[in-house]
Amino acid sequence: MITIIGSGKVGGAAALFTALRKVADEILLLDVVQGLPQGEAMDLNHMLSEKGVDVGIRGSNDYSEMKGSDIVVVVAGSGRKPGMTRMDLLKINASIVKGIVENIRKFAKDSMIIPVTNPLDPMAYLTYKVSGFESNRVFGMGNMLDLSRFVQFIHESTGYSRQSIRALVIGEHGENMLPLPRYSTVGGIPLTSILSADKIEGIVQGTRQVAAKVIQLKGATVHAPGNAIATIVEAVIRDTKQVIPVATYIDGEYGYSNVSIGVPAVIGKNGVEKVIELDLNSTEKEWFKKGIESVKDGISNLEV
Ligand code: LAC
Repeated sequence: MITIIGSGKVGGAAALFTALRKVADEILLLDVVQGLPQGEAMDLNHMLSEKGVDVGIRGSNDYSEMKGSDIVVVVAGSGRKPGMTRMDLLKINASIVKGIVENIRKFAKDSMIIPVTNPLDPMAYLTYKVSGFESNRVFGMGNMLDLSRFVQFIHESTGYSRQSIRALVIGEHGENMLPLPRYSTVGGIPLTSILSADKIEGIVQGTRQVAAKVIQLKGATVHAPGNAIATIVEAVIRDTKQVIPVATYIDGEYGYSNVSIGVPAVIGKNGVEKVIELDLNSTEKEWFKKGIESVKDGISNLEV
C-alpha cells in the first residue's frame, strides 16, 4: 500500500499518477482536514472506474490507517506564496513534518518515506533523524522534479524529442540547485556539444527559477511534482534500479556528512541502494557546496 500524507493538489496529483502506473492495489490519502482525503479519493476512484483501472484509493483522517504501508509520501505542509523561497517555509513546516514522522514511526515502522514538503532537503534530514529509519529508507523528491524542468528547457532550446533527452540535476532543491549539462545528453550526445555555453547557462538559470514563475502564474506547482513522486514510487515498487537524484542522508559522499541533499542514487526495492559519486569540476563543486551550506544552515534552525 502507498500512503500519501497531505491531500491537497500535489497529494492528489501524486495519487493520480501513481494509480495510473498501476504499481499498487491500494493508495491511502491522509489529511487533517475533515472530508478532504475522502472527497479526493472518491473523485479519483470515479476516474479510475471509467478507465477500468483496479487500484483502490481510500481517504482518511486517521493516521493509524497507514499500518502496513510499503511507502509513505509526505507532502503535507504549507506551499510557497509568490516571492517566497522554499527555505522560507522551514519554521512553518518543520513542526508539521515532525508530527507526521512520529506517526509514521508509530504506525508504519517498516515503510520507506519519501519527503516532498519544502524546504525539501532539511525536511528529508528531519525525517531521517526523527524516524530513526536506516538512511536507505528515507529519500526526498526534489531533483527529480528539477531535472524534469531541465529536460523541458533542453527540449525547447534544441527542438529535439523529450524521449532523446537524459538530464541530471543534483544538490539543494532550492536556489542553489545544480543542473549538470556535462552529465546531460540528447540521443547520447553530450549537451555541451549541442548548445553554446551561453545557451546552456540560460537554461541552467531557467531551471533554478521556473518553479517560482509557475507559482506566480497559477499559485502552485502540481502536475510535475505529482508525476515525479510517482516515478520514484514506481522505481521502488518495481525494483527498477533506476538512477534517480533523491535527497538522502550522506555520510562522507561528495566530502560531506551529517546532511541530506540531492545526489544520484540507484533506486530499487530497498530504496536508496547506492549513492553514485560524480567527478565534479571546480564550478560544479562550488554550486554543490553552496547547496550544502544552505541546507546545513536550515538544519541548524531545526530542533532535532
Ligand atoms: C517545486 C516545489 C515542489 O519545485 O518545490 O515545484
